[in-house]
Amino acid sequence: MQLRTMTETDIAAGMRLKELAGWNQTEADWRRFLRASRDGCFVADVDGTVCGSAATIVYGGRFAWVGMVLVDPEYRGRGIGKRLLERCIEHLDSAGVPCIKLDATPLGKPLYEKLGFVTEYELERWILKRALENLPKQMDSGEKMPAPLLDFVMKADGEAFGADRSAILRSVNQEEPRFTDGLWNAGGMEGYAFGRHGSFADHLGPWIAKDAATGQRILEQFLKQSSRGTVVTDCLQANPFAKNILQAQGFEYARPLTRMFRGQNKFPGRPELVCSILGPEFG
Ligand SMILES: CC(C)(COP(=O)(O)OP(=O)(O)OC[C@H]1O[C@@H](n2cnc3c(N)ncnc32)[C@H](O)[C@@H]1OP(=O)(O)O)[C@@H](O)C(=O)NCCC(=O)NCCS
Repeated sequence: MQLRTMTETDIAAGMRLKELAGWNQTEADWRRFLRASRDGCFVADVDGTVCGSAATIVYGGRFAWVGMVLVDPEYRGRGIGKRLLERCIEHLDSAGVPCIKLDATPLGKPLYEKLGFVTEYELERWILKRALENLPKQMDSGEKMPAPLLDFVMKADGEAFGADRSAILRSVNQEEPRFTDGLWNAGGMEGYAFGRHGSFADHLGPWIAKDAATGQRILEQFLKQSSRGTVVTDCLQANPFAKNILQAQGFEYARPLTRMFRGQNKFPGRPELVCSILGPEFG
């Protein structure tokens, strides 16, 4: 087994791995990683077949994210996941990144614990299934958020998330501007959201709101803009209102995720504002 840097030509293989795991990412998501981190995405190659992947991204030098940790089911339990993670850690340590974070599935969590990751908080994947004939008529998708307002949202996101991830959010906005939303008043930002058109579902996140009324308005707006029968979002278990709002719209709990970190978590952001994260792969 050879570990090597992932390139654009490996995206098809990455898509195969994520399909085997039933994940929702698209080629655009792999490209976001590769654009942000040319030498920080890795694949495990066995005789020319890509059987594992792991990707890293550094957010403003404050911390890094590890995502897309995938091993072909036929190759699991042979130490490939561990070697991929060790390669990511080595890469980030040598770049002097002080903290590494990730969102672990129950399958990934034991592996990360062995490598020194500890729990920050719990997340939950929620899923909505709607009959296509019942979908609201889509609103005009021509209205894009004006650049100065988008800048304002990016600044607010840096505070909520704990680091600057505006390059990723700008690419998400560019691809699906109809999902980008923001609510503010004279006192500042009340809430905002972005969304992605995944391979099987529209994905709401980040979904940020100061209070339940704002959270509800943002979720309703997202559901009006989405034309998919399936919608998913990864919400903070401790958020006092997000789950009630999701349930009221017909979402159901799907599975747990655990936010973990390794090193010193000096920039935790403001989790109390977060209804849902951008996604487990990006934070
Ligand atoms: C998680 C995943 C990447 C692990 O890959 P893998 O190649 O099977 O893992 P490894 O063989 O390197 O195992 C590494 C260590 O974790 C342990 N481990 C792995 N999976 C485990 C599990 N489900 N339960 C308990 N321990 C587990 C192994 O025993 C091993 O411990 P050791 O080094 O002490 O022997 C793989 O199961 C996978 O692709 N799952 C689906 C996608 C997913 O959930 N990815 C994680 C995203 S956060």
